Amino acid sequence: MNMPTTPPELAEPHIRGWMAAVGLDAEYVRASGNLLYLADAAGREAEVIDFAGGFGSLVLGHNHPELVAHARDLLEAGVPIHAQFSRSQTANRAAALLSEIIQRETGSKERHLTVFANSGAEAVEVAIKHAELDRVNRLAALEVDIDSRLRAAGELVRGGAPVDNTSGYPLPVEDHDRPAGAGPGLLERAIRDHNAAAMARPPVLLALEGAFHGKLVGSLQITHNPGFRQPFAALGRPARFVPVNQPEHLVKAFEQERVSLLAPVDAGGVVRIVEREFSLVTALVLEPIQGEGGIVPLQTDFARAAREVCTRYGIPLVIDEIQSGMGRTGRFLASSELGIQGDYYVLAKALGGGIAKAAATVVRESRYRPEFEYLHSSTFARDGLSTAIALRVLEILERDGGAAYRRAREAGGHLREMLLGLQAEFPDVVREVRGRALMLGLEFQDQSSSRSAVIREYAGSGFFGYAAAGHLLQHHRIRVFPTASATTTLRFEPSIYLTGGQIDSLRVALRSVCARLRDHDEDLFPPLPPM
Ligand code: F0G
Repeated sequence: MNMPTTPPELAEPHIRGWMAAVGLDAEYVRASGNLLYLADAAGREAEVIDFAGGFGSLVLGHNHPELVAHARDLLEAGVPIHAQFSRSQTANRAAALLSEIIQRETGSKERHLTVFANSGAEAVEVAIKHAELDRVNRLAALEVDIDSRLRAAGELVRGGAPVDNTSGYPLPVEDHDRPAGAGPGLLERAIRDHNAAAMARPPVLLALEGAFHGKLVGSLQITHNPGFRQPFAALGRPARFVPVNQPEHLVKAFEQERVSLLAPVDAGGVVRIVEREFSLVTALVLEPIQGEGGIVPLQTDFARAAREVCTRYGIPLVIDEIQSGMGRTGRFLASSELGIQGDYYVLAKALGGGIAKAAATVVRESRYRPEFEYLHSSTFARDGLSTAIALRVLEILERDGGAAYRRAREAGGHLREMLLGLQAEFPDVVREVRGRALMLGLEFQDQSSSRSAVIREYAGSGFFGYAAAGHLLQHHRIRVFPTASATTTLRFEPSIYLTGGQIDSLRVALRSVCARLRDHDEDLFPPLPPM
């Protein structure tokens, strides 16, 4: 077969065309640390400083030398990569180290167990499935308990015991004169019917407005952006979204999403009918700092209220640390800074060290369901290469008394200071700087009343941040992206090896953009391309 020298573009070519029109198109040929190298028109390599950091997966930068050498050694040694259903010391050691780190950081006395996955969205779905298994098992146990009580109470009632209905539901009076062997009486049937209707109510996942947890069919249901979610809404069960940083709405959601089951108890010869509350909430899922939603940190009060309400109802709190975790915010977990412990943690992105695809759902031992292991599996998850890389990433982060976390705090502190300086200089252009350490966002002021027609057009289009990013790449060789669900916010997530010089290059570039926005510069952006 004759292959043309340049094959046709068949790998999602359409979005690339659009990216090219806003100046975001580039082909990178090499990467190292915080740098990417693109081939320019003349075939020369040009250096680009990468603040996008692989959407947050490059806490340790591109092609970390130790990780690259480790991967090479593993491949050369012929370690088994796909030996599913066998014992893996690497996976075990990575899981044990994860448990140790989480225990140290949260002060938890409990061990944590890990289920490995391949991507963030998949690990989120592992968490959702595990939580739902937990819910249906708790419900089944309650059903068994009520059933045995109903049988016992039936005997008592038949024997003439009085009934004291303390529930808020009207119930029929038992027909004591039923012939023997007639089956359940009116009261028992009414209770069973009530409980069957309550138990048939569907479960509810709680998530936050602005949340991003992935784009697969399951995780998409708890990703808030309607643009991403709505076209596929009919494939899943709708989640309930509550506003960020408003604890009263969260508490109200828990109060509303519950049912009362009726159960008889033997109160010294009297059959007392009581209510047993059962929460319909499968899990509350949250990001400690919302990433895609625009770098929005949760407030401590809100995070604590979330922890408390989950504990009160016995519902797992799933903390999605896919973007915020792995040291980016100056600690292993961003949530530990908020002083809260999750029942589950979800990790991905930087767990693979920028060279492997690795994700993990980590569950507190007392909430772990061993039977989950028989129900969930994946061909690629927990493979020999990704778990070995993940283990080494964790070791690098923990090395030298947590030097990596300190680096993240220091470099992030300088970056934040620079961004705050810009805001002070251009308050009319920069609305806010948010985030912590190496997870920072800069939100532009609304530019829809700019005197420049093209800036105005972008401001109203939802693509303003992409145009700013395109300009930064084309004119300043800086790579940065807006957050996809809040596109006037640029997100900065470089590696811990960020240098003062790189921060300075970013400052110069952003200053120029700010000044030109302030000047209503008609030539700042190319014309808005059609979608
Ligand atoms: N959870 C969070 C907090 C994320 O930021 C992401 C991905 C996911 C889950 C899904 O992970 O892509 O590996 O399936 N965020 C990307 C981003 C898309 O742009 O930050 P995934």
